[in-house]
Amino acid sequence: VTVTVDAAAPGIPVSPLMHGLFFEDINYGADGGLYAELVQNRSFEHADSFYAWGLVNRGADASAGISAETPLNPNNPHFLRLAVRDPGEGFGVANYGFGGIAVRAGENYLVSLRARAADGFSGALAVAIEDETGRVLGRCRIENIATAWTRRDAVIAVPPSSASRLPVPFTGTGRARLVVTADAAGTIDLDVISLFPENTWKQRPNGLRADLVQMLADMRPGFLRFPGGCIVEGSDLANAYRWKDTVGDIAARPENRNRWQHALHRDHAPQYYQSYGLGFFEYFQLCEDIGAAPVPVINCGMACQYQTGELVPLGELGPFVRDALDLVEFANGPVDSKWGGVRAAMGHPAPFNLKYLGIGNEQWGEPYFERYTVFHDALKAAHPEIVLITTSGPGVDDQWWRLAWDKFKAGTPAEIVDEHYYRPPAWFFAQADRYDRHDRAGPKVFAGEFAAHETDRRNTLRAALSEAAFMTGLLRNADVVTMAAYAPLFAKSGATQWAPDLVWFDHDRVYGTPSYHVQKAFSRHRPDRVLPTTLAVPPQPAPAYPGSAGVGTWHSRAEFKDFVITRGGRELFRADFAGGKQLAAWQTRGGAWAIRDGALRQENPDEPDVRALAVDGAWTDYTLSVKARKLGGE
Ligand code: AHR
Repeated sequence: VTVTVDAAAPGIPVSPLMHGLFFEDINYGADGGLYAELVQNRSFEHADSFYAWGLVNRGADASAGISAETPLNPNNPHFLRLAVRDPGEGFGVANYGFGGIAVRAGENYLVSLRARAADGFSGALAVAIEDETGRVLGRCRIENIATAWTRRDAVIAVPPSSASRLPVPFTGTGRARLVVTADAAGTIDLDVISLFPENTWKQRPNGLRADLVQMLADMRPGFLRFPGGCIVEGSDLANAYRWKDTVGDIAARPENRNRWQHALHRDHAPQYYQSYGLGFFEYFQLCEDIGAAPVPVINCGMACQYQTGELVPLGELGPFVRDALDLVEFANGPVDSKWGGVRAAMGHPAPFNLKYLGIGNEQWGEPYFERYTVFHDALKAAHPEIVLITTSGPGVDDQWWRLAWDKFKAGTPAEIVDEHYYRPPAWFFAQADRYDRHDRAGPKVFAGEFAAHETDRRNTLRAALSEAAFMTGLLRNADVVTMAAYAPLFAKSGATQWAPDLVWFDHDRVYGTPSYHVQKAFSRHRPDRVLPTTLAVPPQPAPAYPGSAGVGTWHSRAEFKDFVITRGGRELFRADFAGGKQLAAWQTRGGAWAIRDGALRQENPDEPDVRALAVDGAWTDYTLSVKARKLGGE
């Protein structure tokens, strides 16, 4: 291979934001992951109020229940009530964290809780971290509980002699736990029972896991897109992400079920909630810490279209648009503005320097563009300095993607368009030239979510290489493509709803996949400009038959019985699914499929059905005939 670079040419400038991060609370990426809180269901707001909790009765005559009588706040109305007649050796509860609580020898753990005493309770709360055998690894006492709700803080020092690493598999039985017991008779109410390691990222209270943040910082990302992803949409509107729920006192941030609870679970079916302890203030702060431009995404008045598809009527979009406008004030406004004041009260009087805002996640069709236009007009009138990010839908090259780009061509205002690609490695290799022919006059492109998906959705070196190949095309077209991010970012081993992912972790270990190292290499070595380059490649040996190069996957909800490629009436390839043989690489150009005459066909027959990698290594148009059978009612 001979590479020739025109070093004298001016080249194309590459945006400092070219390589960044996409974060979503999926796979326990936030709660149970990046957010260092060790207690799960700390406010007793899960559908099963005692989820992740168990009772501890050491010879007591007592009962425990969930109450909502004069709660700490109306946002999280439930709390734990211990009614103790005889405390015995202690009565209370134990929290099992997110499949166990990981503690390290020689480290401090910060306990906080809200407590209220009644009926003459004058005892103390014993708080301990115990291993799965009941051995106490560290403890503290909280005394003089007031009769009004009061926040109490204490420290548990785990001595160096304790076990250095506990066996805490996510779904295992050997699990450490946080035990809170009362030692006297009376009534005691408890809420927001929390345990954090002292050693969070930058030692911040309500902080983030230092090892996970370090992985992100090491990438030197240009931006961080947050908080998702589909959780922005919610499975229904009640479940949608509303940033105002995620700022201020953590006790008053209303918990919300995680939309990924309803997704396919590989190996775990928990109640998965968003505590919002990692909220918009913390996201902005994280961006600042790791030098990434903040790219928040807000709900545009639409729930997930794959699920309920619930829509806010156009005439009732006001509160959603208000959220968007207020978010700009929260990030950038002066401290004497309402939302700038909230930011300042949380400890950050300086602005967060917000410049980009995503309107909706993967929305599509007319309902999206009707709503997008309302947001666009309101935001541009109030904040022309904010660059808006528009979505082209969940796929590329399908009918919704076409509709979006047709609209941009026809004048729908768009600055940056967010495109998502979850495709086989072969697609990524083949699409390295995707933007070479892109319309230079239209909006810029944000490759906002991408990952090469193997058939079994493992992270592989091949997938990472295909992403790298694709990214060379993004860079080469840096005049069109301004931002790009792999997705999803995090996966907690044993607790995933989605794979592949960039970074895997468990309670105390973290691992970067080959794709992580690709992203890191690109990000850390981002050029200021791209110079014209030509590549001379010697002739390659031809594969044995069309599509036999050996990489290929089929992502569909249909099960295929016949997969035949013909050209000029001559059969060139017949997939033998029984034998596991697959096409080398192919891509449809239409994307609108329907079942007609017993076969799956494209809706736009005037276009070639399929492009496939031919013997000579060139992409060629073929006719694809497919017979499909629907699976399991989908
Ligand atoms: O990255 C996982 C999901 O993929 C995101 O939530 C969504 O935007 C896309 O469908």
